[in-house]
Amino acid sequence: MKETFYITTPIYYPSGRYHIGTAYTTVLADTIKRYNKLKGKETYMLTGADEHGQKIEKKSKEANKTPKEYVDEMAEMAKTLWKKMDIQYDDFIRTTEERHEKIVQKIFDKFMEQGDIYKGEYEGLYCIPCETFFTETQLVDGKCPDCGREVVPMKEESYFFNMKKYADKLLKYYDEHSDFIKPEYRKQEMINNFIKPGLEDLCVTRTSFDWGIKVLKDPKHVVYVWLDALTNYITALGYMSEDETLFKKFWPADVQLVGKDIARFHLIYWPIFLMALDLPLPKTIFVHNWIMMKDGKMSKSKGNVIYPEDLIDRYGLDATKYFLLREMPTSQDGLFSPEEFIQRYNFDLCNDLSNLLNRTVSMVNKYFNGQVPEYNGTPNEVDKEIEEKCTEQIEKFETLFENFEIANSIQEIWNLIARTNKYIDETMPWQLAKEEQTEKLKSSMYHLIENLRKIAILIKPFMNETSENILNQIGIKDEKLKTWQSMQEYDKLNGIKVIEKGEPIFMRLNTEEEMEYIRNVMKK
Ligand code: MSP
Repeated sequence: MKETFYITTPIYYPSGRYHIGTAYTTVLADTIKRYNKLKGKETYMLTGADEHGQKIEKKSKEANKTPKEYVDEMAEMAKTLWKKMDIQYDDFIRTTEERHEKIVQKIFDKFMEQGDIYKGEYEGLYCIPCETFFTETQLVDGKCPDCGREVVPMKEESYFFNMKKYADKLLKYYDEHSDFIKPEYRKQEMINNFIKPGLEDLCVTRTSFDWGIKVLKDPKHVVYVWLDALTNYITALGYMSEDETLFKKFWPADVQLVGKDIARFHLIYWPIFLMALDLPLPKTIFVHNWIMMKDGKMSKSKGNVIYPEDLIDRYGLDATKYFLLREMPTSQDGLFSPEEFIQRYNFDLCNDLSNLLNRTVSMVNKYFNGQVPEYNGTPNEVDKEIEEKCTEQIEKFETLFENFEIANSIQEIWNLIARTNKYIDETMPWQLAKEEQTEKLKSSMYHLIENLRKIAILIKPFMNETSENILNQIGIKDEKLKTWQSMQEYDKLNGIKVIEKGEPIFMRLNTEEEMEYIRNVMKK
């Protein structure tokens, strides 16, 4: 039986078009899913839409629509974008679907019966856009710590989830499971900022609006968004439904991805809900940072928002994904700037990768009529070194990638590309040809093709089309030579012929013109 791999993204608020920052979580999930699939696992990726709450109710009114009409439209918009970005999700859950609502009601009742949920009155400072109550101490300059907007005092009859009861158990869990929170420093943040100062019980219902899942035994209450939203990760798998096949197969999740703004909900409330349900916790919750602009957060009012479609239409999907993943460090925010985007395109994709392919394909055509020479079995010193380097880089990539250090892992692929370019300068095939050192020339061509094949496999999880294009240009048609496992092989390229005239996979861009284009679409 294949090893399984379940990965989730947060479910998105239907609050308008997604910019490149919002799209990041999903691009990352798709990349991690594809990598695990390539490694032979049976993968399942979940994404979706978080469609209840006061904010949605308000938005739909503004748009002169019913909430249902509004969220239907938004869900279609999201699916269209994910299609354009070739996101291979297996399920798209919407919290307004019956399969979700029914189970949330069951979960709520179970928590009531167990005494985890009790009735009380909530008085606090509320951020309407974030749908979250905050305590005085959590505010930043008197404003919402998550979005920076005004908070308003509110009071209402509410049900509460007894979080305090689980605080010690959660700390113990953190302690005993070092892979549970990544990166590690997020754990300390949770402990210092929220758990040690005393965990507050969580308000889990509202009476002030209707657009939510009704509490069956007290229907003037609707379930508060976080209890509703977080449970999507298990309701989507059929938990507590008539058919729990997927749930049994895929839960606990291997990794759940979240942006830093929603870390608290996923690292504290979510594990506690799972403990209360007596379910195993996800193996890892990975918290990523944000993509920022030079002048801070992306916002329409600043005119600094960049949408994925505008980059994809002009530079292609692969270049867009490459940039997003490559520019997001693990320990701080990533930065988007038009300069940086064009530079990465021109240097990394065009100079380094595209040129390596072009030079190699044209040399194999020139010296061997396109026929890739066979492996001679006795690599000389330089060739041995490039073989070892290649193996070493693959290992480095895997280690970093599996630890979610994605930008660093991609850097290791580019180190291999740089090393392979240098290998051309070292072996000087034109000189070998002139001196008729045929064996050495054969070996040099063989190793170049072999490295390109492996580079193509390494980039496949996030640059699928480019990967296929490279493999096609170097004549790799056999699916067995495209697998992750095949990167361990060194002598299987017999009878392969490269393409006669390969088109460059990335063409150099005019920096000024393109910066102008990007600046303009940002102002749209
Ligand atoms: N609905 C909640 C999640 C509920 S999960 C049970 C939500 N939705 S969201 O639409 O606001 O955000 C979706 C994802 O986009 C989050 O992971 C968030 O961190 C991420 N990002 C939003 N802006 C971002 C950047 N500028 N950069 C990177 N990720 C960003 O939160």
